[in-house]
Amino acid sequence: MKDTEAIRQAAETIWQGGIVAFPTETVYGLGADAYNPLAVARIFEVKRRPYFDPLIVHIAYPAYLKKLVKEIPSSAKKLTERLWPGPLTVVLLKEENIPDIVTAGLPSVAVRMPDHPMALSLIEESKCPIAAPSANPFGYLSPTTAEHVREQLGDQVDLILDGGPCPVGVESSIVSFLENKPRLLRPGGVSLEGIESIIGKVESSPINDKPSAPGMFPRHYAPRTPIVIDWNEKNRDLYKNRNIGLLAFQEPKSNLKFHFVEVLSKKGDMREAAANLFSAIRRLDALNLDLIVAEPIPEIGLGRAIMDRLRRATSSREQN
Ligand code: TXA
Ligand code: MG
Repeated sequence: MKDTEAIRQAAETIWQGGIVAFPTETVYGLGADAYNPLAVARIFEVKRRPYFDPLIVHIAYPAYLKKLVKEIPSSAKKLTERLWPGPLTVVLLKEENIPDIVTAGLPSVAVRMPDHPMALSLIEESKCPIAAPSANPFGYLSPTTAEHVREQLGDQVDLILDGGPCPVGVESSIVSFLENKPRLLRPGGVSLEGIESIIGKVESSPINDKPSAPGMFPRHYAPRTPIVIDWNEKNRDLYKNRNIGLLAFQEPKSNLKFHFVEVLSKKGDMREAAANLFSAIRRLDALNLDLIVAEPIPEIGLGRAIMDRLRRATSSREQN
């Protein structure tokens, strides 16, 4: 089927209250008409997502933002003008007509304009903003290919638009404008440095705080296989006869004694590493290893989002 025909069908599905998985530049989303509470409820059911975790509303034009929110502070205006379309989500006070199920009853709404031709055409043709979380079961890694979505949610969604692998590979950066100073709620596809170069100092919440974006549970991007970041070769004896995989940032110097190695970027390029992150973890997770060792990555630029996702993947299994 040609893309234009697939998008038309997808838009019709959204229009009729269905749910559609679609590509964005960050990860695949699972979308519904943001103004249709029943359709949005199905997203929560399919994902098994708790209703207290609000969704992002996706729009196709920057100017649509003012229909969704009460007011747009100048710093939010500046940031969206510079970074939309792109991996930036802004949190602002919502207009009353946005259904509570979308915002989990909060007085605020998260909005973003994705930088992906299929996502933008889908929103335009659906003639409504699209509420969408990442298209994965709650608590698991976000999908960065249509195949990932098919494997985990395939028979439960009405349609999957295939736009190939997502070029950014980690979710959007979320910035809240509800306090005096803007606050980074989730590091993501645009770097903190990039954001601060446009609007100046931004507060950021450390990872172990209580969740600041309601969905920012410590253990949120978790594969089935235990994963550690601070590997010490002294642990080696504990794992005698066990299969350990390595998630390496760059080509490892010598091929250490790992059962399998995934390299995120041979040349050590942070963008390439982010784009490969979730697929690489999924491939390791499919090998039935006893442990995945993840190499730490410098926490600058996109490295901050990558390390945030890795830390969440390592958090203890007792947390959800
Ligand atoms: O890149 C992305 O942002 C992807 C693509 C599909 O756009 N979407 C995504 O959605 O990652 P999701 O639902 O997996 O993550 C959205 C995050 C959650 O942590 C949620 O709690 C937070 O956004 N959020 C949504 N509305 C909020 C609000 N009003 N205030 C604070 N956080 C909010
Ligand atoms: Mg998600």
